[in-house]
Amino acid sequence: MSRWQELTGGTSGSEYAERFAALARSGKDVHGEARFCAALVPPGARVLDAGCGTGRVAIRLAELGYDCVGTDLDASMLAVARAEAPELPWVRTDLAAFDPAALGLAADFDLVVAAGNVFPLLAPGTEATVVERLAAALKPGGLLVAGFGLDAAHLPVPPGLTLPQYDACCSAAGLALVERFASWDADAYDGGGYAVSVHRAAP
Ligand SMILES: C[S@@+](CC[C@H](N)C(=O)[O-])C[C@H]1O[C@@H](n2cnc3c(N)ncnc32)[C@H](O)[C@@H]1O
Repeated sequence: MSRWQELTGGTSGSEYAERFAALARSGKDVHGEARFCAALVPPGARVLDAGCGTGRVAIRLAELGYDCVGTDLDASMLAVARAEAPELPWVRTDLAAFDPAALGLAADFDLVVAAGNVFPLLAPGTEATVVERLAAALKPGGLLVAGFGLDAAHLPVPPGLTLPQYDACCSAAGLALVERFASWDADAYDGGGYAVSVHRAAP
């Protein structure tokens, strides 16, 4: 069972969506992840929002002209995504078993984004498999972008996955580290408790 499922019981879609809606109403920028991805690949690029939740990153990228697919395991989260953007493809699947061909999807994504602590919220021990599955969905030279917390202040669950462990997963899947930042605003990474990592598949 994923840490997310343990944490929420798989019923938190509406509450999660309302939390971001309230942030947006209060004037907070809720599109940092989409803006970050849009700076890496041009409009029209194929983007997989892995662990898309309520779809907020994919929906924003689609508004900016990207060709997006969202995938998640939590039906309550996907229900919100489907209601918000019924025109987009939303796929319910476990990232640890993600198989684009079996889902009728081409494995030629320009960019895969895992925003919002997806990696620390996976089922324990599945991180390497998930990286491998996501790497296999990328076209040559494609990018895997993941932002997640590393300490208790930045996580809703006890800290687990470290950056060296994540980098080792990426390396084993044939992905090389391109850049690492401290935020979705691309602040320089300084060893703090949150990191946004960009890894690239071999060309
Ligand atoms: C905190 S939410 C982030 C949602 C979205 N990426 C965002 O930034 O708003 C973490 C998401 O990871 C998803 N997740 C965790 N383990 C998963 C798995 N094995 N397969 C698919 N999705 C998973 C959860 O269902 C949840 O929607």
